[in-house]
Amino acid sequence: MTEASNGQVTKESVLAALQQIEDPDLHRDIVSLGFVPEGDISICGSNVSVRIVLTTPACPVRETMKEQAQQLITSLPGVEQAEVTMDASVRSTGIGRGPKEIEGVRNIIAVASNKGGVGKSTVAVNLAIALRRFGARVGLMDADLTGPNIPTMLGLGVGFQADTGLGIVERYGIRAASIGFVLKRGLPVVWRGPMIGTGVRQLMHDLPWNAEGELDYLIVDLPPGTSDASMSAAQEAPIAGTVIVTTPNNVSLEDAMKAVTMFEKLNVPVFGLIENMSYFVCPHCGDRTDIFGHGGAQQTAEELGIDFLGEIPLDPSIRSGADTGIPIVESDPESPVGRAFAEIAQTVAARTSVQHFFATTAAS
Ligand SMILES: Nc1ncnc2c1ncn2[C@@H]1O[C@H](COP(=O)(O)OP(=O)(O)O)[C@@H](O)[C@H]1O
Ligand SMILES: [Mg+2]
Repeated sequence: MTEASNGQVTKESVLAALQQIEDPDLHRDIVSLGFVPEGDISICGSNVSVRIVLTTPACPVRETMKEQAQQLITSLPGVEQAEVTMDASVRSTGIGRGPKEIEGVRNIIAVASNKGGVGKSTVAVNLAIALRRFGARVGLMDADLTGPNIPTMLGLGVGFQADTGLGIVERYGIRAASIGFVLKRGLPVVWRGPMIGTGVRQLMHDLPWNAEGELDYLIVDLPPGTSDASMSAAQEAPIAGTVIVTTPNNVSLEDAMKAVTMFEKLNVPVFGLIENMSYFVCPHCGDRTDIFGHGGAQQTAEELGIDFLGEIPLDPSIRSGADTGIPIVESDPESPVGRAFAEIAQTVAARTSVQHFFATTAAS
């Protein structure tokens, strides 16, 4: 029996109302997706409070959903006030997917391309900090063992000695590890393939990533190409998905296609393409110039049947943020570039939730 009989609101009627809200990525209603724990619906006379638990704090429709829920509940008979709390619990994509999970890490997201200098590390760092700013617990692993850039980009400098003694350093609220933390400045790493593989494995499995609690997302910054590091990363841990970074010119796009093929062969899901250095807005006249052409990545993504995740303009503040060690998402999150990274972070978080959903529905 529900509210209809006596004008009293019940948990059932609240759930029935909330069933009208659909998750835009999963195309299912939020009740059947388990986002509304029954234990978190409380009814006191004509006051209803509900907690909706999303699969990521970086959900782009969080506020819209909250308003929708509030409206739907208030319009139920017998309800005067509705209080909707939005929460998130990031689910793990790793379980039962072959390679050994990294303990305490719920989702691994790799950033890759087949080319150097297209902005992988830049995207990895800003993506990590953007996810953190949404409230997620985030780690950043520098898998570019022969050319580690994460220390500089986080303002820690090459040769910075991890003060924890554990190889993981906390910076801007994220937990980062790089071989660069323990190298002497200017000293090149000359490693052969098998050693690189071992290095990646050690970074993944021998560091205490969860020493200070679980991580929702571990972003892995890969070196360019179909290298030993990328292969090892794909084989050593269950990667939720890869983000491929490319510039809009054809040569870079060709390489991006190769990266997509490689990950597909390795059975690692590809979340999609990011077009970096997409266009330049002149700081003097405000005119937009498409230095490397424009829109190529979107077209390539369509051809490859993968998603286009967004575009980042060419902006001197990105370069100076990388060089001074204060990433743009940290120093100026509200700038157009900061917002572009935040939007991409939301898209990537949504893709991760979708990946979890498919992995679990396929398994059950
Ligand atoms: N959108 C951008 N605008 C301006 N400079 C950028 C942008 N993306 C990357 N850079 C700069 O380009 C260089 C290469 O980027 P990086 O992230 O190191 O590339 P990768 O990791 O792919 O080799 C760095 O100096 C970085 O600061
Ligand atoms: Mg790099």
